[in-house]
Amino acid sequence: MHPPSRPARPTPNKTPAAAGLLLTPLGPVLTLCLCLFSASAVYAQAHFQELKPSPQPIHVRVQFKNNPANEAVVSWTTTRATSENKLYLSTDPKRGRLEEYPVHFASQHTFPFTLRDEEKKAGMHAWSHNVFLNDLKPATFYYLTVVSDGAASEEFHFKTAPDDERDIRILMVGDSRTPRRGRIDRENERRQVNALMAGLLETHPDIVAMLHGGDYTNHARWGEFYWWLKDHSETSTTSENRLLPVIPARGNHDVNPELLEYFWWPDRVRDFYYTSNLSGTTTLLVLNTEISRGGDQRQWLEEQLAKLRPLKRWLLVMQHQPNYPSARSYEAMAPIREAWVPLFERYGVDAVYESHDHTLKRTHPVYQGQINQERGLIYFGDGGGGVPQRRAGRDRWYLAVNERYHHVHLAKITGEEIHIQAISLDGQIVDDFKITLDRRALYLREQKELDSNQ
Ligand SMILES: [Fe+2]
Ligand SMILES: [Fe+2]
Repeated sequence: MHPPSRPARPTPNKTPAAAGLLLTPLGPVLTLCLCLFSASAVYAQAHFQELKPSPQPIHVRVQFKNNPANEAVVSWTTTRATSENKLYLSTDPKRGRLEEYPVHFASQHTFPFTLRDEEKKAGMHAWSHNVFLNDLKPATFYYLTVVSDGAASEEFHFKTAPDDERDIRILMVGDSRTPRRGRIDRENERRQVNALMAGLLETHPDIVAMLHGGDYTNHARWGEFYWWLKDHSETSTTSENRLLPVIPARGNHDVNPELLEYFWWPDRVRDFYYTSNLSGTTTLLVLNTEISRGGDQRQWLEEQLAKLRPLKRWLLVMQHQPNYPSARSYEAMAPIREAWVPLFERYGVDAVYESHDHTLKRTHPVYQGQINQERGLIYFGDGGGGVPQRRAGRDRWYLAVNERYHHVHLAKITGEEIHIQAISLDGQIVDDFKITLDRRALYLREQKELDSNQ
C-alpha cells in the first residue's frame, strides 16, 4: 500500500476588512451580509468551473448493481453534445487500437446533466453517456476505450465479481463530501481517501468494488458532483488504469433527483434499495434511509432476507443513517432501528455498514438492545470518506470503537470469516475485527426446531 502524502491544510479565505463600518449601528447587519457574500463567493469559486466545450471523454467510471459478476454500467462525461458515443470492449488489452476490439456498444442513454441557474451561468454544461453491459463473464478483466465524436479516452480496465465461493475483498467508504466552505483544496481529504483506496486496490487485486454509504457531496447537484466524479476518476483509479467499481447507497445529502443521473442504471428508481451479489457466498442488501423505512421497503427487505438467508453464507447490509449512531442522538435513530433491526436479528444478518455520523465507529455485538457476545450483530462505519470528522461519543453503552479519523474499511470475506480493518489516511490500521458466527446454520437449525414444534 502506498498511502498518499498529507499536504498542508489550505489557508481559509479571509472576509474583506470592514472594521470601520462594523462600529456603526448597522454593524451586525453588514457583518452578516459580508459573511453571506463571502461564503457564497467562496462556494461559487470552489464548485463552479466553466467547462470548455469538448467531446473528450472524462469521468470514465464503472458501477455495479444487482449482479456484479455479469452486469455493469460504464459511464463517461463530455462537455459538449456529441452524436456518436461508443464503448469498445475486450477481455485483453488493446491499448486503444479501436479496430482490434472485438465488440463495441453505442451509449444507450445520453443526456445533458441537469444544471441550476448559477451552474448554467458559469458554463458548466456537460453530457452523460452510459452503456449497460449485461452479458459479462464472472471474475474477468475487461479492457475498454470510450469514444465520443472521434475523441477517445485512454484504455481503462475493470474486473467483474466472481460467482463462486472464492475469497473476495471489498472496500467501504461513506460521506465523501468536502468541507462545507467548498472545494478549495486540490488535495482535499476526499482525494486522499480515494488515493488510499487506489493503493489498496493495487495491493489487493481481489477487491470487487467500493461500497459507498451515501453523502457524496453537499447537495448532489452538478456544481458539486462534477468534482466528485473528477476526484473519483482521477484518484480512485490505479496507476495501471484499473477502475474501482462503485456500489452506491443514498444519503440525506443525496435526495435531489439528479443523483439518478450520476448513478444511472436502466431500471433505477428513486427508491434506491437493492441487493448486490458480491460473490457466490455473499450478498449485500443496500437500504435507503431517506424514504419510508416501513411499507414497501420493509416488506421487500423481509422477503429478500427470507429468500437469501438459507442460500448465502454471508448477508451484509449497507445503509446511510445508522441504527446505532456514534455522534448523533441514539433516540433520534429509533424509527430506523425499530423498523429494520428486528428483521436483521430474526434472519441473521452478519454485519451492518452505516455512515452519516462522520466518525470511525464499531459497536459491540448487539442483540435485542443489549451487548451479546454470542449472537450480537456489529454495526460499523460511520462515514470517513472526506467530510470533516465529528467529536466522538465514546461513553455510549454500545460503542466499542469511536474515533475521529478519515478512513476506509477493507473487508476480506472467506468461507470461515469476514475480517474487517479500518485504515486511516496514513495507512495505519485503526480498527481490526472478525465476524465468524455461522448465522445461516443457526437460522436453519432454529427454523427446523420451529417447524418440529408446530
Ligand atoms: Fe454526511
Ligand atoms: Fe448523512
